Amino acid sequence: MRLPALCVLLCLSKLYLGASSASCGCSPVVIPVHVDVLVPKNATDIFAGLKSNSSSLRLVDDTYNIYGVFCQPQTVAPQYLDILQLLVHGMTYTSQYWSPPTEEFRNYSYVAFSCDRGLSSIAIDWLGVGLSFRPENASDVQYPSVSAAISQIALHLKTTSVLPGVEPFRKIIGIGHSTGSYLLNFGAIVDARSPFDALVLTSSLIPTTSPSVSLDILSARDADPLRWGRLDLAYVTTTDNRTLFYPVDPTSFSARMLLFDAFTRDVGSMSTLVQGPSASITATHYTGPVAKVVGSEDQIFCAGTDRCADVAALTAAESVLWPAAEIFEVMVSHGSGHDLNLDFFAEGVFHMFVALVDKFSA
Ligand SMILES: *[C@@H]1O[C@H](CO)[C@@H](O)[C@H](O)[C@H]1NC(C)=O
Ligand SMILES: *[C@@H]1O[C@H](CO)[C@@H](O)[C@H](O)[C@H]1NC(C)=O
Ligand SMILES: *[C@@H]1O[C@H](CO)[C@@H](O)[C@H](O)[C@H]1NC(C)=O
Ligand SMILES: *[C@@H]1O[C@H](CO)[C@@H](O)[C@H](O)[C@H]1NC(C)=O
Ligand SMILES: *[C@@H]1O[C@H](CO)[C@@H](O)[C@H](O)[C@H]1NC(C)=O
Repeated sequence: MRLPALCVLLCLSKLYLGASSASCGCSPVVIPVHVDVLVPKNATDIFAGLKSNSSSLRLVDDTYNIYGVFCQPQTVAPQYLDILQLLVHGMTYTSQYWSPPTEEFRNYSYVAFSCDRGLSSIAIDWLGVGLSFRPENASDVQYPSVSAAISQIALHLKTTSVLPGVEPFRKIIGIGHSTGSYLLNFGAIVDARSPFDALVLTSSLIPTTSPSVSLDILSARDADPLRWGRLDLAYVTTTDNRTLFYPVDPTSFSARMLLFDAFTRDVGSMSTLVQGPSASITATHYTGPVAKVVGSEDQIFCAGTDRCADVAALTAAESVLWPAAEIFEVMVSHGSGHDLNLDFFAEGVFHMFVALVDKFSA
């Protein structure tokens, strides 16, 4: 595994969450996964190979170390004994999205919130991101390979003990944010038998061909030469102004959160940036329950349009891609922006997530 210089700092800050929460123990873990998938030779193919013939695909066959933070309550609630939430961050974020590691922002930690209610979780870094292995060539980091690594983690956790004394889990609920939701969605499309018993897909609606806003993206090399100067050009990041991910109304979030957010910025590959449209393909085989949660003030999907105003109409439009799902529902969190977990409405959405986990694991 690569050991970035930041590891010490990050690893310590992650452990701090454990120390700050009397009822919750957290441990960094590294899980090797074998990925054996076809990716499009064209790394900017927006459908990630799902619409390609075999001559335009190539094999990625490798074993990668995936980093995660496993958190378990001292006392697991009886109804959650063999249930694990697998948390998947969005583009240019890391596992820290689910547990901002400073005391000031503890109220924004879904990991702490759900742990306090007796639920275990593992928040992982995508392949190529954070403390997970980063392939030298960014074109190996595409929806098929990143999504396969996530599914392999879920399978691993169902069959193997993640830490001494922790039994494998019987049910795994995938909770994604933004592109993390699209990656779970991709797995639901391609996995013959999904390892996820339920999906909660936040801040991700069916991608439109002409998004109303555009994100400022640059090569990570140029954004921060000291940290990322040696990366393949096709690893990208945002500028450090990430206001797009917050509601337009500045009284909806803490100005200090924006600073923290800029500090946790990471990279993603060009492929993972552009392959969202693969989530407009029908998840024909996925039979578990699925919920989407989106903020009414999400500047990427809702704000300034009437797309999220009528929840019944939105649910009808979104459900088309999940014909076999046991349950399909959409919830709109009033006031929330794209980064649902990081504004003043976070506590409300955390209650929604736990209620969905309750319902889906019953
Ligand atoms: C790769 O795919 C993108 C989007 O699907 C397309 O615009 C581009 O022309 C393709 N590039 C090549 C070399 O085929
Ligand atoms: C396969 O796809 C490539 C690139 O899109 C195309 O040039 C070729 O004609 C296709 N081959 C077949 C047999 O459809
Ligand atoms: C955190 O949440 C608690 C309970 O909801 C609240 O009393 C407290 O003021 C919040 N702290 C911050 C810093 O927002
Ligand atoms: C990355 O991999 C692709 C596919 O194998 C190859 O075409 C490309 O030249 C490689 N890029 C670099 C910088 O090695
Ligand atoms: C960040 O970008 C928004 C618009 O995208 C702009 O209104 C705001 O002034 C910028 N903030 C900073 C600190 O540059």
